[in-house]
This record gives sequence, C-alpha cells and structure tokens, in this order.
Amino acid sequence: MTQIFPVERLQNIRTPFYYYNTNILRQTLDAINTETQKYAGYHVHYAVKANANPKVLSIIREYGLGIDCVSGGEIQQVLQAGFPADQIVFAGVGKSDWEIELGLDNDIFCFNVESIPELQVINQIAAAKGKVATVCFRINPDVGAHTHANITTGLAENKFGIAMDDMETVIRLAQSLPNVVYKGLHFHIGSQILQMDDFAALALRVNQLQDRLEAEGIQTDIINVGGGLGIDYADPLAHPIPNFSEYFATYHRLLKIRPHQTVHFELGRAVVGQCGSLITRVNYVKQGSVKQFAIVDAGMTDLIRPALYDAHHKIYNITSDQPEEIYDVVGPICESSDVFDKDIPLNRTQRGDLLAILSAGAYGEIMASRYNCRPFPLGYLSEEI
Ligand code: LLP
Repeated sequence: MTQIFPVERLQNIRTPFYYYNTNILRQTLDAINTETQKYAGYHVHYAVKANANPKVLSIIREYGLGIDCVSGGEIQQVLQAGFPADQIVFAGVGKSDWEIELGLDNDIFCFNVESIPELQVINQIAAAKGKVATVCFRINPDVGAHTHANITTGLAENKFGIAMDDMETVIRLAQSLPNVVYKGLHFHIGSQILQMDDFAALALRVNQLQDRLEAEGIQTDIINVGGGLGIDYADPLAHPIPNFSEYFATYHRLLKIRPHQTVHFELGRAVVGQCGSLITRVNYVKQGSVKQFAIVDAGMTDLIRPALYDAHHKIYNITSDQPEEIYDVVGPICESSDVFDKDIPLNRTQRGDLLAILSAGAYGEIMASRYNCRPFPLGYLSEEI
C-alpha cells in the first residue's frame, strides 16, 4: 500500500480529504488522447459534473479536452479554469434564463436542447442579444443501459431528451427560427456502463435516425453520443485505466459517420474516477453483538455514492499490515444509510488508522454536502503534498 499511497505524508493532512493521484489521471488522459487520435473527427468533452476541483481541472485542460456542462455554475467554473468557451457543450433538462445568457455571452460551442419550450426560450434570449445559438437536440433513443436504475437516462420513461418521433418536427421548428441554428444530435444512455453492447445499441440507433434525417434532406454536422463508460470499482488497483480502446473502437466500427461530421463524447467518470481516493481516519473500533464496526471520520456527506446508489468502493487500511478481519465501515452521520460497506475484510484496524476508499474521483468531492454542519472535504493532488 505504501507504494500507492504516501502514507507518511498523508498522515499530516486533516481527515477526511480527497487524494488525487496525478500519475493515474495523466495516464488516463494520455490513453484517451492516444485512442481518439486514431479516428478523425473524434472529440472528447470532459463531463465536469464528475469533478470540478480546480486543481484537477487544470491538469485535464493541459490535455486539450473540451467540456460538457449542465449548469451555469459549471460554465463559470471551467471558464475560470481556462477552458476555451468554444469547446463547451451545455446540456440540461431545465436551463434557467441566466444560464442560457451566460452560454450565449461566452459563445459556447452548442446548447444541447431537450424540449420545444427550451428551444423557443433560447431563440428569444439570443434574439435579444442579436446572436444566433448553435443547437443540438438531445434525442431519447430508448436504449437501456445495464446499470443502476438511478443512473440510466436513455429509456422512453426517463425525463431526458426529446422523443424520437418528434425529432423531425423540432429540427424543422429550429430551422424556421432566426436566432438558433440546428447542427446536430445529442444522446446519453446512462452512466457506469461496462457492456460495450449498450454503446453498440446506441450507435445502431443513431444510424437509423441519421438515415431518417437524410431521407428528409436534413443535414447534421454534430453527432454527440454522450458519456457513460464505466470503471472497475471491484478491482481498481488491477484496472486503473478504463477500456478506452474498446469503447472508441465500438463506435468507430458501428457508427456510420458522414465525411463532414464530427463525433463528440462526454466522458466524466472514466476520466477522473480511478485517480481519486477518500482518505479517512478510524475514530473507533466498536464490537457490536454481531458485527465489528470501523467508525471513520468520513461520512455520506463526503461520499454519498454507497448510500445513494448502493455503490461499492474498495476500501483498504493503508496503515496496518496485520491479518485481515471482517468489518462494517461506517461514518458518523445520524443516518443508518451512512455506511461505506458491510462485512468487508480489512487489515486489523485500530483507532487512528487511515483507510483509503478507492475509485472516488468521480461524483465524490463534487457531491459532498454540509449536512450535520460538517465542513466540505478538501482535495489534494499527489504532487502537492
Ligand atoms: N453526458 C450527460 C448528458 C450526462 O447526463 C452525464 C452524466 C454524462 C455525460 C457523464 O457520464 P459519465 O461518463 O460520467 O458516466 N452521480 C452518479 C452519476 C450521474 C451521472 C449523470 N450524468 C454516480 O455517482 O454514479
């Protein structure tokens, strides 16, 4: 463990905190660039909802990725981090007027529009500013993903996107409005997807829809297939880098792209998930009547994924080399769902030990809350401690 975690240096930092291994982050970004460079016109927009820590963003920026935003706050955050506005795509089912204005004022690359009323509002606000907004339509492809129900988004029953049946109507409407210009289609079927078949199904659906549009004489320049590539939560040490090669190759093999088209991806978890760990200190070891609890100083306020999605993050005691025993790892919050994992082996644990909760770089720090008036956890890069 000491090869992976600089335990002595971590001991000096107030727990709980996020620790970002920049070697893993850089290797991940290198792998993304190596794979996308194989295919002409492929662009990755980092889905900043996964992690907006400024220090993490500054590394991602070095690698030339664009950005996928879902709020005005995210747009402000990435502009501050120095990302070029003309590589920002802006999605979201309920954009507020000020957020649309912010996007227009900064001439972002495109708005991913999810409804007719939204299209009309964007047209109105753009007209008032004397601008023309580039729009793509988020189409609900009715493609399921093999993932947790809370993070599947591409089924007809989900709130996201525009029904396939309405696609031509909304495009025609956009073409009739003076202050928006139709450029393309946007999709996103869900998150933490490990079966390439799901992406294959989306690619085939996009082909069908493209044929339909071509038959209508509608030109489409941008195909955005969203994000969703998963990571190995069960064995992050064995698989620190997601399978980008297979992911992009799946699209390349199946998605029929016209010569003038560009293909856009919105990857979040796969970019930052494996570089981050939540480091927490054991406050107490309690022997219950049937269980042994390791009570740590991090809680669901610092990492909500286990409580919200039944997610399992691998946990190691990085300060003990004693034989393993079985523990429930629980936080201090007054909620019975404040449990990181149950019945897991840890090297024998005692008060003061440090635990690392792995694969927490995505949807960890950014989803922290102040419930119980707890302070937000801070994030540190490996190269700064
Ligand atoms: N594009 C759109 C339109 C999205 O809604 C999302 C994620 C992404 C891209 C990025 O997906 P990724 O590549 O990270 O899978 N908090 C949950 C995940 C929510 C994902 C929401 N949308 C979790 O902790 O598992």
